Amino acid sequence: MYKDKPCAEITESDIGKRFTLSGWVFRRRDHGGLIFVDLRDRSGIIQVVFSPQVSGEAHEQASDLRSEFVITVRGEIKKRPPGTENPDIPTGTLELYAEELKILSESQALPFQIDEAAEAGESLRLKYRYLDLRRPELQKNIILRHRVTKAIRDFLDSKGFLEIETPMLTKSTPEGARDFLVPSRLNPGTFYALPQSPQLFKQILMLSGFERYFQIARCFRDEDLRADRQPEFTQVDIESSFIDMEDILSLTEGLLRDTFKRVLDIELEIPFKRMTYRDALERYGSDKPDTRFGLELVDVADLVQKGQFKVFLDALEIGGRVKAIRGKAMAGLSRKEIDMLTEETKSFGAKGLAWIKIKDGFDSPISKFFPEGVLKEIANRVGAEEGDMILFIADKEEVVHNVLGRLRLEIGRRLNLIKDGFNFLWIVDFPLLEWNPDERRFQAMHHPFTSPVDEDIEKLFSIEEEDLKRPDSILGRIRAKAYDIVLNGYELGGGSIRIHKPEVQEQVFRILGIPEEEARLKFGFLIEALKFGAPPHGGIALGLDRLLMLMAGASSIRDVIAFPKTQKGVCLMSGAPSPVEPKQLKELHIRTEV
Ligand code: AMO
Ligand code: AMP
Repeated sequence: MYKDKPCAEITESDIGKRFTLSGWVFRRRDHGGLIFVDLRDRSGIIQVVFSPQVSGEAHEQASDLRSEFVITVRGEIKKRPPGTENPDIPTGTLELYAEELKILSESQALPFQIDEAAEAGESLRLKYRYLDLRRPELQKNIILRHRVTKAIRDFLDSKGFLEIETPMLTKSTPEGARDFLVPSRLNPGTFYALPQSPQLFKQILMLSGFERYFQIARCFRDEDLRADRQPEFTQVDIESSFIDMEDILSLTEGLLRDTFKRVLDIELEIPFKRMTYRDALERYGSDKPDTRFGLELVDVADLVQKGQFKVFLDALEIGGRVKAIRGKAMAGLSRKEIDMLTEETKSFGAKGLAWIKIKDGFDSPISKFFPEGVLKEIANRVGAEEGDMILFIADKEEVVHNVLGRLRLEIGRRLNLIKDGFNFLWIVDFPLLEWNPDERRFQAMHHPFTSPVDEDIEKLFSIEEEDLKRPDSILGRIRAKAYDIVLNGYELGGGSIRIHKPEVQEQVFRILGIPEEEARLKFGFLIEALKFGAPPHGGIALGLDRLLMLMAGASSIRDVIAFPKTQKGVCLMSGAPSPVEPKQLKELHIRTEV
């Protein structure tokens, strides 16, 4: 018998009782006469005391103990002597006096100490992920993950949603990333794609009459990785029939409110605020704005037009924008610091950063181009006061928004303007299509199955060939029944009401420039299925890893995934991806060039 109780569940009412406990040696301190061991299991820590007065044998054995040995101890629970309590742990007033010790297994010298792992480099931690995962912080995150998925399952079950699995070996689903491919041995020369999302299957399930589906679904996308992106990640994937957009929004709000209440005991205020896609870009320069602080982007085109600064006038001339933000409390920046900021801005894609300091008047290399009255008007509009700076970007709209949006976040972070808390926001009123300037065609803003708003469906059918090739054509103004949910500046999820009429779906494919043959090959089964009685349906997918990262207060989704991959898509522990035997490749009829 190994355990009467988890270590951290010993309480004051156990004083005087005997227990057998098992776990890992977290820390060991040899005080000559007494040896103290912090015994750790999943539940937490309890102090074990080895005293020669209690058991000479156990005390002697204990001098061999090293970090991360696995042991079983038996002994009596006592109250710690006054002054030796540890208020940081629940068992901090208690200790177990060991009468027996069994060493179950030993540990080699560790590549890093478990309680100092946070300081070890991440590569080392990922290589020894099993040790890293012993850290209480990571254990807490993984336990949180379990609680959250459990709460989600319970909530959706209570609303009549069925959890249905969909295939991993499937066909490409267009979510905009590159596919991971899996060669088929039985069908030489052909490939499965790992799903970027269960999108097509969940729609098919609606056509099959399941009405309410969900899945904690693994998704795979071969894209460039960041702190909030992994090549494989998990979605809370939801789809429902006979609903409209409002139903999905309030279901999602209910789901999140219930989950936060149950898991974190936090009351979220619902309904969540909403903002249009256009407003988000105009005011925050981002479709996932962090609205926990101000410093909004302000259009100053009409004002700068009254001046002579050529960079600004040229940008406006070619249809660009000039916008500014309030560099709060930044007038004290030195030239060198401003140069660094300018370089940073350039790395975001801007050509330069114009600035005006408000410090005993207007101090700026560009103030000479503007009458004093105009400078005042600009400062007023931006909300800049004495001691602030005004930062300007002039460029194509996309660059202006991207760069100022990122600068705004930088300033907010540096000045600690971002309040704690969970700030949920719906982004609505998306356009159905966006212009891709490189390919000179329209592409789906969400994915090709998103329904236009009812009033705009007719427009889809009244377009002319010309409209497909003009960025300013009516196609750019067709509105979608799509929505994104943003949490603290992260895109947490997105979804839409889907097209359920085959002729509309076919028309959208045509507009997206997907040739009929390709559409038939890739999504033929969906179009076909739509022809056999399709209910109106729609849904959403929430990024579970991102949700957990924010709930846990972690800075990367790697901290809430048991076995994450590095920036280069490598699992440092298992060594995947790795070369395979030539024999395996031969069976698959594959030749590699590297
Ligand atoms: P979308 O592509 O917006 O929608 O994905 C939904 C959410 O999944 C999360 N996410 C990721 N998380 C970690 N790593 C990644 N590489 C990654 N990519 C996406 C984000 C994102 O908001 N089928 C549609 C949903 C629908 O229409 O119902 C879809 O997949 O949090
Ligand atoms: P220049 O006339 O190129 O010396 O630039 C004068 C100032 O304008 C410098 O501070 C530049 O960083 C800034 N600047 C240059 N291009 C832009 C731009 N597109 N938007 C905003 N500021 C710019």
